Amino acid sequence: MARVPNKVALVTGAAKGMGRSHCLRLAEEGADIIALDFCKQKDDVKYPMGTADDLAETAELVKKQGRRVLTSHADIRDLEALQGLVAEAVDTLGGLDIVVANAGISTVGHAWELSAEQWQAVVDTNLTGTWNTIKATVPQLIEQGRGGSVVLVSSVAGLRGFPGMGHYSATKHGIIGLMQTLSQELGPHNIRVNTVNPGLINTDMSMNPTLFKQFMPDNPNPSEEDIAAIYKHLTVLDIAWLEPVDVSNAVLWLASEEARYITGISVPVDGGQLVRA
Ligand SMILES: NC(=O)c1ccc[n+]([C@@H]2O[C@H](COP(=O)([O-])OP(=O)(O)OC[C@H]3O[C@@H](n4cnc5c(N)ncnc54)[C@H](O)[C@@H]3O)[C@@H](O)[C@H]2O)c1
Repeated sequence: MARVPNKVALVTGAAKGMGRSHCLRLAEEGADIIALDFCKQKDDVKYPMGTADDLAETAELVKKQGRRVLTSHADIRDLEALQGLVAEAVDTLGGLDIVVANAGISTVGHAWELSAEQWQAVVDTNLTGTWNTIKATVPQLIEQGRGGSVVLVSSVAGLRGFPGMGHYSATKHGIIGLMQTLSQELGPHNIRVNTVNPGLINTDMSMNPTLFKQFMPDNPNPSEEDIAAIYKHLTVLDIAWLEPVDVSNAVLWLASEEARYITGISVPVDGGQLVRA
């Protein structure tokens, strides 16, 4: 039996990486999908962001599961665009049940050395963009009166600091504060709100030369094998990184009836990174 049968799920940052994986895992388990992504490269982000082709591929993969999909090149920093998309999606797909606020960016730098622009870019996308996603979707969930599940994507960096990630970590901590508040505000509406907190996941955000250099400043050309040896020391389990589907399985669980009384929690999916740190 499907675990999210005939639910409608909105996923931000859906073109690639974990966002695509969340779309597919939810579709495999019976959900129709609203897949949105900015589909543009930001100059300050030093790894490839999603493209229009990537988002189209996500949509094709969802359709192969026999589910309906609506795509949009919306930017989560644009509240009006998100509100318009939600209104259109509700008309087309008949409502909204699951919200996965996944889109995010990462840049690196010591907290005191970041430019004001670097700071603002990460705050605007990761924190304000997540709040925009909530502001655009939650009124619909409340109005429908059929409950819902909101999953905010934080990070292990939302539960502790990491050198070179002060701005990122601040936004991911902020997302947990937002979740803990919203879970109390929305409980009476039977809308559950939780975070997932990924560790090192095999996507471009964690698997890119700029970040590799952060870990290995003396290695002029660090390879994936070099970084695997380092990442392996960060986890308790005998792995260097996790796959996107590992996080999607936690998202799916939180979205499903199996978690019907789970709200206000943060779920690390990190191979034991936090317990080791
Ligand atoms: N990869 C990791 O190791 C890791 C660890 C912890 C948390 N996370 C978090 O997980 C989430 C997904 O990360 P990922 O690793 O899949 O990254 P990714 O870069 O592969 O995918 C992120 C997607 O978000 C989209 N996006 C970025 N800014 C956007 C905006 N303003 N509006 C709409 N879409 C936008 C990008 O185009 C991209 O397709 C992020 O919130 C990230 O911070 C990642």
